[in-house]
Amino acid sequence: MNIKDYLKGKQTAVDQFLDEVTPPSVTPPTTLHESMRYSLMAGGKRIRPILTIAAAEAIGGNPPGLMPVACSLEFIHTYSLIHDDLPSMDNDDFRRGKPTNHKVYGEAMAILAGDALLTMAFDLVSRPDLMKGCDPARQVQLIQELAYGSGNFGMVGGQVFDIQAENQDIDLSTLQNIHKHKTGMLIRAAVRMGAIAAGATDRQLDSMTGYAEDIGLAFQIADDVLNVTGTREELGKNPNTDAERGKKTYPTFYGADGARKLADECVARAIERLDSFGPPADPLREIARYITSRKN
Ligand code: IPE
Ligand code: IPE
Ligand code: MG
Ligand code: MG
Repeated sequence: MNIKDYLKGKQTAVDQFLDEVTPPSVTPPTTLHESMRYSLMAGGKRIRPILTIAAAEAIGGNPPGLMPVACSLEFIHTYSLIHDDLPSMDNDDFRRGKPTNHKVYGEAMAILAGDALLTMAFDLVSRPDLMKGCDPARQVQLIQELAYGSGNFGMVGGQVFDIQAENQDIDLSTLQNIHKHKTGMLIRAAVRMGAIAAGATDRQLDSMTGYAEDIGLAFQIADDVLNVTGTREELGKNPNTDAERGKKTYPTFYGADGARKLADECVARAIERLDSFGPPADPLREIARYITSRKN
């Protein structure tokens, strides 16, 4: 399979769905909708929704509600980026190739756009029209996964660990715990939600969870490396910001090459976790490889 074509095809489908379900900018409150769309439709890689779809494909089938389930993660992710860039957090000026949300709409609107995107994620997975045909017990399980991956024990918890570690002499296990939460938990939710939607057995779900945890760590290590080695043009966001904000990252401990090697080891482990799955899991295997080879 060609992973570039696979990712491109899924990205287009995700973009189209996100566009359809998000109110147009002319719908009141107009500035809010404009600001939500500004960040949401700025062209992210859509890796989380694609993971959900690929996980469902690995189990088999195209279960009802897969697209809203997959896209709920992109709503959460985009909200997390808007808030992550705020002056009180990472204070970043560029994201997805454009000025950050608060630079254009102001801090208050950026906070509110994030809040609304977060809320919309839960609306999507609850809407009877979009989720028609999904078993109600399974739907509640999906909503719970989304909440767990996003909240105080998930991404938000990780962001707390991250800001508390600024300018601190943290050790490696503390750094790993930050990454596991701030990035890993949403990726874990993405994979698990795809598997659950497709009716995975407990054993299948365990394997998928292991895969997700390994690629989640690899993903954030790769982000750390790109922060050191990438350019604004490649990344669509400013490089070298971690060091400027006094954040210790994997390259701080191991150098860029050492960190890359560690990320590759995580990827190899992740692929091994899929040993019991056949060719339908090939997209998941290829996505794992893509995570460390990407340039943005
Ligand atoms: C960036 O995520 C922030 C992290 C959690 C590392 P992505 O690299 O997925 O960003 P987009 O969605 O493609 O912009
Ligand atoms: C982003 O982590 C994690 C979340 C938004 C939850 P970073 O702050 O390290 O990512 P970038 O480099 O700004 O994308
Ligand atoms: Mg951050
Ligand atoms: Mg940041």
